[in-house]
Amino acid sequence: MAAAPPSLFPLDDLAEAQAALWARLARAVRDRRSPWHTPAVATVAADGVPKARVMVLRAVDQVRGCFRLHTDRRAGKVAELAATPRAALLFYDAGARLQLRVEGRARIETEGAEVDSAWAASRPFSRRCYTAPQAPGTESPGPASGLPPHLETREPTLAESEAGRGNFAILLLEAERLEFLHLAFTGHRRGVFLRDETGWEGRWLIP
Ligand SMILES: Cc1cc2nc3c(=O)[nH]c(=O)nc-3n(C[C@H](O)[C@H](O)[C@H](O)COP(=O)(O)O)c2cc1C
Repeated sequence: MAAAPPSLFPLDDLAEAQAALWARLARAVRDRRSPWHTPAVATVAADGVPKARVMVLRAVDQVRGCFRLHTDRRAGKVAELAATPRAALLFYDAGARLQLRVEGRARIETEGAEVDSAWAASRPFSRRCYTAPQAPGTESPGPASGLPPHLETREPTLAESEAGRGNFAILLLEAERLEFLHLAFTGHRRGVFLRDETGWEGRWLIP
């Protein structure tokens, strides 16, 4: 029988598994090619319908258990979160055979120190989408980028990109539950970390 390939993830220690998850998340923020750079983000619409879309993971804070993503304050998810301030993130790395599900309370911020620093760190090209005069999701009579015509084919200058600041928002998710599933030759592993006032408590689950 062929020998089991070495696991890329700690299989038998919850503390090590949790540390590995946060290390992967921190790397995913920096590495655009990481599969965890673009999680699916799920919210609940006013009629109870689940809504999911891909977003870029911008920052994680292990101490606060906080995830930051960027969006347009006019987007549908912003109204959804105002009504139901809960969200879930879904990450999957096919190479590592590792799924992570995150659930928690989510809020949108459009002003304040964290929004200002997130905007300041955004490149003009990333800021360009916020310069669109019409809200994302607005019906269009034909195919359209929605961008101002003078920015359709180029990156805005730093000064031009400031036109998007009023539409820029951050989505902050404070995680209450992290659940991983690792597919392994020697047997899958599933575990959950639940957060209370004293910190995270981990438990194994049957996969
Ligand atoms: C690779 C990729 C990355 C994306 N990143 C973001 C993002 O960081 N923020 C965002 O608001 N939308 C992002 N989008 C667009 C969303 O998936 C979605 O279409 C848009 O936000 C509208 O969603 P809503 O109407 O549910 O608010 C991204 C889409 C793709 C395919």
